[in-house]
Amino acid sequence: MDYRRPFAELEPLEDEIRVVDEALAALVEAGVLPHTNYDQDRFLAFRQAVRDLFEIPWTAISPRMQRLIWAVNAISQPVNMIAAGVFCGNTFISNAGAAVGPGACYDARDLVGVEIKPEEAERAERNVRRIDPTGVARVVAADAVDVARDYPAEIGLMYLDADGTPEKGKGIYLDILQAGLDRLPPGGIVLAHNSLNASDRLEHYLAFVRDRANFKASVNVILDPEGLEVTGR
Ligand SMILES: C[S@@+](CC[C@H](N)C(=O)[O-])C[C@H]1O[C@@H](n2cnc3c(N)ncnc32)[C@H](O)[C@@H]1O
Repeated sequence: MDYRRPFAELEPLEDEIRVVDEALAALVEAGVLPHTNYDQDRFLAFRQAVRDLFEIPWTAISPRMQRLIWAVNAISQPVNMIAAGVFCGNTFISNAGAAVGPGACYDARDLVGVEIKPEEAERAERNVRRIDPTGVARVVAADAVDVARDYPAEIGLMYLDADGTPEKGKGIYLDILQAGLDRLPPGGIVLAHNSLNASDRLEHYLAFVRDRANFKASVNVILDPEGLEVTGR
């Protein structure tokens, strides 16, 4: 994938759909998702809106990953969602776009994207506002550990993509997760990007989410070179 041309066609659509269907089936089998059904037309409406309206300088979210993240949200329908480390907002809207904009397929209450760099948060907010005039999806400039710790309601889905400080890197996922863990309800889902290409830095995070004492199940979904760890409470 060319990070600067995220909408370039990499494979026939049927192949993309089949690979994502297989991943969703594995998540159902693990008990993370209740079913695999999602609205194909709404997904394509969402993808087109992002293509038309978002300013994306680069992104590592492949078309397969975009579809998988959107489908997990469309199926699990989190009322509240926190996405940590959203950069220009493409990853955030891959989650939130299941509930806002032209692809919306359920009603959410509060979908928050968190980005620590104010100028990136501003661009992400600008991008998101072009798709969602309602404000249900919003971007804040803050440290995701603080936002997760102080969030005042249940968190139905948490998406982790922050790259922390140079010393910690993606190891910060575990800090963010633990900060909000007591508000992750049964049936809640945690998505961790880069489960494959950052697996060294994520060693402690992956051990934590794969420990049955902490979570019902966790599946490393490898459908592109980055990977997504999908964990069910
Ligand atoms: C590498 S980007 C993620 C890009 C995304 N994977 C994509 O392909 O579009 C990670 C983002 O996390 C942000 N970040 C780092 N530490 C953070 C923290 N503690 N809280 C919120 N955002 C953070 C960085 O500023 C950066 O924009």
